[in-house]
Amino acid sequence: MNDVKLQIDHLRRVLDRLNYNYYVLNAPSAEDREYDRLMAELSELEAQHPEYDDPNSPTRRVGSDLTREFEQVRHRYPMLSLANTYSEEEVREFVGRIERETSRQENYCCELKFDGTAISLTYENGRFVRAVTRGDGAVGDDVSANVRTIRSIPMTLMGEGWPEYMEIRGEIYMPHESFERLNAERADIGEEPFANPRNAAAGTLKQQNSAVVAQRGLDAVLYALQADAPVAPSHYETLQKLKEWGFKTSSAVRLCHSVEEIMEYIHYWDTERHKLPYETDGAVIKLDDTRLQRDLGATAKAPRWAVAYKFKAEQAATRLVSIDFQVGRTGAITPVANLTPVRLAGTTVKRASLHNAEQIELLDIRVGDMVLVEKGGEIIPKIVGVDREQRPADSVPFPYITHCPECGTELVRAEDEAKHYCPNATGCPPQIVGRIVHYISRKAMNIEGLGDETVQLLYNHGLLHDVADLYDLRLEDLVPLDRLGQKSAENILNSVSKSRGVPYSRVLFAIGIRYVGETTAKKLAAAIPSIDALMAASREALLEVEEVGGKIADSIIDYFADPRNVEIIERLRRAGVQLQAAQTEKLSATLAGKKIVISGTFDHHSRPELKELIELHSGTNQSSVSKTTDYLLAGAGIGPKKLETATKLGVRIISEEEFMEMIGEKSVEKTDGMLEIKQQTLF
Ligand code: IVH
Repeated sequence: MNDVKLQIDHLRRVLDRLNYNYYVLNAPSAEDREYDRLMAELSELEAQHPEYDDPNSPTRRVGSDLTREFEQVRHRYPMLSLANTYSEEEVREFVGRIERETSRQENYCCELKFDGTAISLTYENGRFVRAVTRGDGAVGDDVSANVRTIRSIPMTLMGEGWPEYMEIRGEIYMPHESFERLNAERADIGEEPFANPRNAAAGTLKQQNSAVVAQRGLDAVLYALQADAPVAPSHYETLQKLKEWGFKTSSAVRLCHSVEEIMEYIHYWDTERHKLPYETDGAVIKLDDTRLQRDLGATAKAPRWAVAYKFKAEQAATRLVSIDFQVGRTGAITPVANLTPVRLAGTTVKRASLHNAEQIELLDIRVGDMVLVEKGGEIIPKIVGVDREQRPADSVPFPYITHCPECGTELVRAEDEAKHYCPNATGCPPQIVGRIVHYISRKAMNIEGLGDETVQLLYNHGLLHDVADLYDLRLEDLVPLDRLGQKSAENILNSVSKSRGVPYSRVLFAIGIRYVGETTAKKLAAAIPSIDALMAASREALLEVEEVGGKIADSIIDYFADPRNVEIIERLRRAGVQLQAAQTEKLSATLAGKKIVISGTFDHHSRPELKELIELHSGTNQSSVSKTTDYLLAGAGIGPKKLETATKLGVRIISEEEFMEMIGEKSVEKTDGMLEIKQQTLF
């Protein structure tokens, strides 16, 4: 092996170890800067030496923005479900049944039931091969690219003694913190939030774009091993092995020696679970002896040696005092219940979300009712029922508001949407302030020194009505305002001025087109690199852009159809805000007008590199094959659907070598016999 390969292997090992310490052990062992430096060094070496490419490299864990379909994979061992029990009595019966069978007292491994989405990880010779969802239990979706972005999942195992082939089963979940952040971001762009962390985890895992997955903060916990032979005489010891090999297992596992100990475990976690940073909905009780597990076997659906005890959702009864309505920056109306304070799952609850008019109607929730509140995976609890018996005699159904509580405009509701909207975008105060707050936010224009309260203050004083007004602010307007001194006023003007340098893709996110989030804005800016081109783009052209579907395309068209928005854009232009992408120098025009789809893996380049090469030579990288596609750049393991569509539509299929020849880059024989591409471009 040569020096470069040794160095690459060394860096991969060190970075794997740092990831393990950080993501599995929660014990960071290097400064962020050091980690970034090692990662940069590895990236550079890998870029210079595509022959040492490895899909399991730590550099691959940031995801790729290439869209792909999921391949279906059959599980070697079916993925079973668990029998549920809802009472302690049923748990006692389960234990009784087993011990009648074995005629002795057994040990049970008690675990938490994680509320996420099940995953099966295949390892061959200690290396990660693929990750497959449960699907129908027999066949699932290969979501490996997405799962690689979850850094607590090892790509290369530590220690020794693993079976040559094994499937490690576990749960992918979204911790509360990531869930709250994701939903706040979704609400911000007018997307419906996820109902609970489980849906969010499942939805994220099926994302087509693994770079999005990488940002969403998923995590995983592993709780079972499937192989041709057991690796230990007990489940408890099997979990120890998983831990030794580098997997993240739960620290809430307890080996119980009697039904009383099982009950203690259940009681303890029934209350303590509310302190965990993730959602659990029960406990799983597993017979510990692996040989006995095999003897007991399974029904068609679930193993006979395990059972899940479901915790009762914690609820409390309290009185509904009043209902408020909040207006978001997109005009969406959210009803919020004010309650008589009540203790629930360790906190005092005063407010609960009511989601929308339909929910109020469905539950026939009325002011003055005694209501049941429940805490799910959300921080804000929800109302799940009404105690009709205690309803005051004079109670009347709650009439949902018809007009905006802030500006009095009549509300509208689209047929396919649950929420009401205030259409008065430019005259409704919380929408105006909300849009400016979004514009200045860190992920958008990052205008420091201006917070929500200052924006409100400037709005109240008539200094801000829309985002373009920011660039007209003058020192003498700001200094006299309460709480703002000379220094703060100068800071504000400086950061406003600095925002003129913010790249176009972030400006596009900042102006707040409904449904256009950060990622969509990036894709749009890459495909349609100026606001003028975007304004002129047809619906069809917008739909060509990756991640853009009908809903987003229509929203963009509606936005520019409003002359008030066009006026704001013109004022931003005059203020010097970036309304087009910085020019990247093209190497040639060889592929001008050509649309190319990439599929499979390649000998000499990673897919992001090929994408960059296409763009450097003026071509366009498309995500799926259609009538408009000129070439399908095919590598090993190409998606069968893509190949079939390309053949049917007569799209020309080219190899990596043919592609390199097209763009005028030749393959040359290296002295050590390895084929290497002589590159004019630097990666
Ligand atoms: S063991 C053969 N252990 O619950 C037994 N499952 O309702 C396989 N789950 O599909 C499951 N936490 O997604 C097991 N500690 C745990 C679990 C767990 C959550 C999920 C799993 C399974 C579902 C069954």
